[in-house]
Amino acid sequence: MAVERTLSIIKPDATERNLTGSINSYIEKAGLRIIAQKRIRLTRKQAESFYSVHKERSFFGELVEFMISGPVVVQVLEGANAIAKYREVMGATNPANADAGTIRKDFAVDVQNNSVHGSDAPETAAQEIAFYFAGIEIVG
Ligand code: CMP
Repeated sequence: MAVERTLSIIKPDATERNLTGSINSYIEKAGLRIIAQKRIRLTRKQAESFYSVHKERSFFGELVEFMISGPVVVQVLEGANAIAKYREVMGATNPANADAGTIRKDFAVDVQNNSVHGSDAPETAAQEIAFYFAGIEIVG
């Protein structure tokens, strides 16, 4: 199994409810290692740029407002098949469809306020990690 890295974001709905530690515990129990982490406030420009793939979607404006509404915790996770593994741990985008025991089933509010983001493929993982951690040496 390939050791991979993936980008995780703990979103404003979760930081507002003081859930960072609880979510980190789901990540670590799944065997993923948090090898970089910082709590930041996204600028509008950063949020628009990070989610630019969704710019034609009806929810884009609301998504940007949500992502700048409070602090986020951006993280790099490392482990065997980390990208797929983290998507499994997060559960479906809409918590109504998420499996029991997943982060979104247990903590998310709705499809927008869904507590966490995770990269969806190796190329996007590399791009998303560079977006938040460019120039920072990440020691696994
Ligand atoms: P995320 O995995 O970060 O990717 C895009 C985000 O858009 C998603 O999680 C949700 O927070 C948000 N979003 C809001 N509405 C929708 C929707 N109808 N379908 C998918 N994503 C949505």
